Amino acid sequence: MPRQAGTATKAVIFDAYGTLLDIHAAVGRHAPRLGPAAASVSALWRAKQLEFSWILSATGAYKDFAAITDRALGHALALHGLHDPALRADLLAAYQVLDAYAEAAPLLAALRQAGFATGILSNGSPDMLEAAVRAAGLVPLLDAVLSVHSLRCYKPDPRVYALVTERFACQPHEVAFVSGNAWDAYGATRFGFRVFWVNRAGGPPEYWLDRTATIIPGLAALPGLLA
Ligand code: LAC
Repeated sequence: MPRQAGTATKAVIFDAYGTLLDIHAAVGRHAPRLGPAAASVSALWRAKQLEFSWILSATGAYKDFAAITDRALGHALALHGLHDPALRADLLAAYQVLDAYAEAAPLLAALRQAGFATGILSNGSPDMLEAAVRAAGLVPLLDAVLSVHSLRCYKPDPRVYALVTERFACQPHEVAFVSGNAWDAYGATRFGFRVFWVNRAGGPPEYWLDRTATIIPGLAALPGLLA
């Protein structure tokens, strides 16, 4: 059931890692092998993965997100004195099939039922996204899975957000963009999307999102705000 003409929001687009997919699930599955360092490894893995993506983009270089994710994991393990190739391989394999948050599938189904187009816009490489979306059972609930890969640059480069308006043939203000990553939410506000920052940790506002985005504690809050 497509939305009626004139309805402000036509598509609801989600970031993948940290928004629909739980980025700490990979370490969570192998936590006993990591011992007390588990949470710290997971946090550093994510921090370095993002830093590498931004620095590559800012310097005009590109390596795909799978390669960045592997490199960042190697750094995080080495910094914690963990030199175990089998563990590294298992963590990387687990990252390919991260758990989706429990609210993700019911939310996407409800949005589709309400007539919104749905999609993912992610830094993930197409093979990573394909595997993750399939493993999480989200394939039939998404109209599009858009990767930065064709552009060879990373969010928050504005060219990335333009993939959405091109794919759905719409204006930025007709897109609701949902991200659990404040830096990504900020990039999306700069592009002109209607932005929802999922602040799961309940931390203080970041960037200018308290003025330019709607801050929600979890995905379940979304449908009531989109009407
Ligand atoms: C994504 C990561 C960076 O784009 O959260 O899915």
